[in-house]
Amino acid sequence: MTKVKINSSRVDGKISKYIYGQFAEHLGRCIYEGLYVGDDSDIPNTNGMRNDVVSALKELEIPVLRWPGGCFADDYHWRDGIGDKSKRPYMVNTNWGGVVENNHFGTHEFFELCEQLNTEPYICGNVGSGTVQEMRDWVEYMTFDGDSPLANERRKNGREKPWKLKFFGVGNENWGCGGNMRAQYYADEYRRYATFIRNYGEEPIYKIAGGPNADDDNWTEVLMKNIKHATDGISLHCYTFESDWNNKGKAAVFDKDGWDSVMADTQRMDKTINIHELIMDRYDPENKLDLIVDEWGNWYDVEPGTNPGFLYQQNTIRDAVSGMLILHIFHKHNRRVQMANIAQMVNVLQAMVLTDGEKMILTPTYHLFRMMKGHMDGEKVDIDYTSDMYESKDRKFPKISISASKKNDEMTISLCNTSTEDDEDITFEISDDEYSIAVGEMLTSNNMTDCNTFENPNCVAPSNLDVNINGNTVSVKLPKMSIAVITLKK
Ligand code: AHR
Repeated sequence: MTKVKINSSRVDGKISKYIYGQFAEHLGRCIYEGLYVGDDSDIPNTNGMRNDVVSALKELEIPVLRWPGGCFADDYHWRDGIGDKSKRPYMVNTNWGGVVENNHFGTHEFFELCEQLNTEPYICGNVGSGTVQEMRDWVEYMTFDGDSPLANERRKNGREKPWKLKFFGVGNENWGCGGNMRAQYYADEYRRYATFIRNYGEEPIYKIAGGPNADDDNWTEVLMKNIKHATDGISLHCYTFESDWNNKGKAAVFDKDGWDSVMADTQRMDKTINIHELIMDRYDPENKLDLIVDEWGNWYDVEPGTNPGFLYQQNTIRDAVSGMLILHIFHKHNRRVQMANIAQMVNVLQAMVLTDGEKMILTPTYHLFRMMKGHMDGEKVDIDYTSDMYESKDRKFPKISISASKKNDEMTISLCNTSTEDDEDITFEISDDEYSIAVGEMLTSNNMTDCNTFENPNCVAPSNLDVNINGNTVSVKLPKMSIAVITLKK
């Protein structure tokens, strides 16, 4: 039995909606097939974007979408992706399977997708193999409203008004695929590139520096020393594995040991954020700079028989539960963590939707994101509870994890049960606010490896959670291996 005290007047900052962001890279079948099929495809589409996928993703109210990479970003030359499609040059996608990229999905198509999804664009520029001029020109092309050769070229290509672009990343993983740079070298490069990212629009561009790989504290230290005056955020990439980078495990073939390992590895996110937060706090005690976790998610071996460079993997209830643990970690760090982008939106890593030809399925992680919408831009409410810690071997993770926020007279409470054996009775005592209506939704499955397939698309599907509300007391029974969201209304 878990007892939770919620004092709804004790609020602790906002949970930025941007932590529910997504990421779409030119990788495998994420962009082509997954999102973009071209306007002459038999798959129903609007201006080339698949109607089924767009309509499913719209339900998530995605606040921000990062594009075009990932590693692809530092190999991408934006001029190849504008103008007449039949004349766009091809390139080899050397990072991801060596396939030929025809550049049919470029800047205009990306903004079209964002408009269809009603999401804000976050573009990652090319530092690794691109020039300063290329980056500055791209920003002018996209955002200048006046009479300039670049703005007029945009008009000639079909877009009269500039687009609204707030978020711009200055390179990706520049310690690795983005140029194998040392921290000091990148910091100098950052200063040069960022100087030429001009503000043409009404809103200044929010610049995101390429940050550390997981626990690399030196990278953060060097950036904070050298560029804190010139950036708005520093990115962080931190993935979850079954064991580690060399033993990622299988997405839908595992046992209790594999379940526990993934749950335990999610706790690395908390540790990793702490490492970088401490450094940022030293250099930026006023908390002006943000930590942007612009790549995170569960990363397993690719599905057997698929291209190893396409990073296509299945998705089970394990991913929904571990995903909620990580989202709760972002809530906990809401002071610094202002954006996060799960990798990736379609057909790659911990995806929301998977496609096969004209078919599409929703993953358990899709349901997690849909269920968590109530937290976006909510005021985090301080809660008191203790959860047993599951400890075995060197693993440690909470059995129950809970987070609450309030917005517009409603309270959203998200909770998950990481146990593979025991259901849990949970009672909430709420003070300082009165609610009369409680609605609950949950996602669970009989077997830990259950996943949605093209043959059985609703194997892991949401259902009602019975919630008892009696005055200030709310109680539920949370099944093992489940996530749930309770919405309280006045
Ligand atoms: O998300 C897949 C890849 O993981 C990205 O391209 C890269 O930035 C990271 O290493």
